[in-house]
Amino acid sequence: MYQKVKGTQDFFNLDVEKFRYFEKVVTNIIKKYGYEEIITPIFEHTDVFVRSSGEESDLVSKEMYTFLDKGNRSITLRPEGTAGVVRSYIENKMYAQQNLKKLYYLGPMFRYERPQAGRYRQFYQFGVEAFGMSSALLDADVILSAARIFEALGIKNIKLHINSIGDLASRTLYAEVLKEYFSKDINHLCGDCQSRIHKNPLRILDCKVDKDNPLLINAPKIGASLSDEAIKYFKEVLEILKAAGLDYEVNENLVRGLDYYTDTVFEFVYQGDDAMDGLTICGGGKYSNLVKSFGGPDIPGVGYAFGVERILSIMAEQNLYPTLKEKTKIVLIALDPVSKIQTLVLADSLRKKGYEAELDYFNYNLRPQFKLADRLHPDFIIIIGEEERSKKQLTIKNKIANTQDTILEEELFTYLKENYHENA
Ligand code: HAM
Repeated sequence: MYQKVKGTQDFFNLDVEKFRYFEKVVTNIIKKYGYEEIITPIFEHTDVFVRSSGEESDLVSKEMYTFLDKGNRSITLRPEGTAGVVRSYIENKMYAQQNLKKLYYLGPMFRYERPQAGRYRQFYQFGVEAFGMSSALLDADVILSAARIFEALGIKNIKLHINSIGDLASRTLYAEVLKEYFSKDINHLCGDCQSRIHKNPLRILDCKVDKDNPLLINAPKIGASLSDEAIKYFKEVLEILKAAGLDYEVNENLVRGLDYYTDTVFEFVYQGDDAMDGLTICGGGKYSNLVKSFGGPDIPGVGYAFGVERILSIMAEQNLYPTLKEKTKIVLIALDPVSKIQTLVLADSLRKKGYEAELDYFNYNLRPQFKLADRLHPDFIIIIGEEERSKKQLTIKNKIANTQDTILEEELFTYLKENYHENA
């Protein structure tokens, strides 16, 4: 028997309804902020991810699903959404249409990570990217949209961590400071970090192997290397968040695991007394140079991505799903072969009118057909047998009113209209 690949999940039954409920809520809200949906391919040329996230990031060096296609091209299943959206933004010259372009996406991402609670090898991200301007207001508005979505979903116990990693000049200076600091104790770092010192010392700070190493915990913070301009920009972002009433905590250790960020970086972290405690459910930030480094114009972007499975689990934990509203369900029961065909034809016209209708395809006895009805919890059961057919009638068990009615076939839609109540 085949089993699913480690780190992947099947969604079925109520889990699919929950996923779609999440999708409905987030898309509803994000559209109010002016975002339009973008759908990009699930795979891209490998270089799209290497260039954007950086060769030294865990994402690129350890976690990518990369393969050669039959044309000998190196292809990678997308480990995150931003790089593909940036590639598409430039390739389709979206910057020519309008100054500010706001895009959102929802789809599967792939990372070869060790599976554990809230960590998968195929997982879904809902993400946004806003291109066009360097503005503390825009950064704050992006962060606010994420917070408002969590509110709408009813998720509590989350904390917003925020930091600035400055502009390119600040980061270059900080890289030098870190290089000097770590070089003294290079032997206390893992093998990967020993090579990161030379190539990209910032990446040492989010190393998963060395994460509890005191050397990392006590490393100099970026704050001291920030340029005046970067400090001013960060202060502005914080002031706007405060004005909007959003609680945050400045976390000087927050640098994020991908290379493309500049200035504002942030994460929403779940704090619960369950296995999900401490998990980041949303991460993002500003990226001033990514579009340009892909060969596009000098246009900054800012965005974030939610880990959908993590959010769905927290919602289950906190009991946040409403009773998912179903449409009128009608089950049709037939007592002989000719009636069976009639129920199929009737089901077809009911569905065309927008009703959800189901029938039993095998049985002519009442018992198994009522068993099916029991399982589906219909609002109405329509029964057709020889007697009904001869009189052009239908027998209807109305489960809302708890009655049994006999009506003429031609009166069916009027009957349903009169007897179906939205809130039943
Ligand atoms: P990220 O922090 O790598 O950022 O991922 C965003 C979110 O995806 C994480 O906070 C987490 O909730 C979820 N996630 C990541 N890896 C896994 C996994 N293996 N299993 C389940 N969930 C996971 C990005 O991907 C950036 N592209 C975000 C961004 C958009 N920055 C700017 N724009």
